[in-house]
Amino acid sequence: MRREKNEIFRVRIEDMSDTGEGIGKTDGFTWFVKDAVIGDLVEAKVMKVKKSYGFARLMKVLKPSPHRVTPPCPVASSCGGCQLQAMSYEEQLRFKERKVLNNLRRIGGLDCREIWEPIIGMEDPWHYRNKALFPIGRNKEGKIITGFFAGRTHSIIENTDCLLGAPENARILACIRNYMEEYGVAPYEEKTHTGLVRHVLIRKGFRTGQILVCLVINGAVKELRSAEILVERLLGLFDEGRGLGKGRGFGEERGFDEGRGFNEGKEGGHKETVEDREGRPRIVTVACSINRKQTNVILGTEIVNLYGTGSIVDFIGSIQYQISPLSFYQVNPRQTERLYEMALEYAGLTGEETVWDLYCGIGTISLFLAQRAKRVCGVEIIPQAIEDARRNAEQNGIKNVGFFTGKAEEVLPEQYEKNHIQADVIVVDPPRKGCDPMCLETMIKMAPERIVYVSCDSATLARDLRYLTENGYEVRRGRCCDMFGGTVHVETVVLIQRKDT
Ligand SMILES: C[S@@+](CC[C@H](N)C(=O)[O-])C[C@H]1O[C@@H](n2cnc3c(N)ncnc32)[C@H](O)[C@@H]1O
Repeated sequence: MRREKNEIFRVRIEDMSDTGEGIGKTDGFTWFVKDAVIGDLVEAKVMKVKKSYGFARLMKVLKPSPHRVTPPCPVASSCGGCQLQAMSYEEQLRFKERKVLNNLRRIGGLDCREIWEPIIGMEDPWHYRNKALFPIGRNKEGKIITGFFAGRTHSIIENTDCLLGAPENARILACIRNYMEEYGVAPYEEKTHTGLVRHVLIRKGFRTGQILVCLVINGAVKELRSAEILVERLLGLFDEGRGLGKGRGFGEERGFDEGRGFNEGKEGGHKETVEDREGRPRIVTVACSINRKQTNVILGTEIVNLYGTGSIVDFIGSIQYQISPLSFYQVNPRQTERLYEMALEYAGLTGEETVWDLYCGIGTISLFLAQRAKRVCGVEIIPQAIEDARRNAEQNGIKNVGFFTGKAEEVLPEQYEKNHIQADVIVVDPPRKGCDPMCLETMIKMAPERIVYVSCDSATLARDLRYLTENGYEVRRGRCCDMFGGTVHVETVVLIQRKDT
């Protein structure tokens, strides 16, 4: 029976899509219902009908799923950032693991249930993101607001305290909003391309407690009236009698240094201390990113530092990273450490191996592996990421790594054919589209004993595993690691071993 637009009907939700909509069927016809949870019996309204499937809006939950919970975030549905908040965390983990195993079976032709290890969930699935970007605008009453763009739109859903972000974000945002109201600093207006402050970027080193605040502005820093007051207020937020010293006035020991910005007195810059490593929050950098373009790209590449060194320091395992506004860095550092530990375990290193780390980004996995390998070679397409990787290696005194800038599918064949490179272990951590066929083909030719595949998309992982297992390899171990609670995303690590070993 074909249903018409706006018709109300009942449906039981039996599955969930990759984008988090509930999936149910009526007379063999598939419905996608946003905000519905597996196990719910719901009343839904037809929004759009296609040939074999349709979209419907959740009107009423008639019988809730045993896994349904009240989303703790008041704007969970309108914001759209978390697709699974109405599902208990335990069920989210089961859902993600099931999705990965289904894709491996359906797309990869691989039944991995016997060898699969239990998913690594988070101890606390909230406040796990170390990076947040908040657009700034005005509400209908003209009050300055911060929040998030509602899914696929540019209208701001007001939110002062996203539950995925660092708990300090709310106070930082309130401080910036109050300063803007008080000093008449206008938020950016997209329609007219006027106003100054577009976004606020906040990054926090979870292990060190160091915080970076960066205002994205549509103009010069001098247009940010009384910026020194903003800096002073931000620095005072988590000061609580330490660090800057009680009673010190802003100009007394710190001052504005043309070109370097506000600095922290005679010692200058910030020095990493043991105190920091206890993780107590403290703002160590305030900066502006200049973005005058009418564009969807949020950060402008020109960074002007107002206070501090321009970056924060954080650790994954024992490796230290310097993170600036533009650096790529994993958003969930606690789970990243667990993910990399798994990759390291699967790599089975003894200290004698040559390892290739393809799609290496800023070299986070490479540096982790280098601690137990003879040599690690990283390959990454983005030159700035390779610059960061080299600097990180140097700062950590790691000498047995080398990095190549370029496409993995070009660098690897070229090095293999020209320089006859070899690999005992290859680690790959590709973007969602997975590995390029030329890259996979070369990996097979190089015949490493082990391949460790780190994936953020189980469909392309399954496709690539099919190729590898048809060409002399077999899947020996595999495990999911949840880095993004509340959302549909999950990371997976698989150990693929050459069959003759
Ligand atoms: C999932 S991230 C891996 C990040 C890295 N493992 C880390 O933790 O820093 C994928 C990386 O692959 C890079 N990339 C995308 N296409 C590439 C290609 N064809 N060749 C090499 N690197 C590529 C991206 O720039 C990105 O840094």
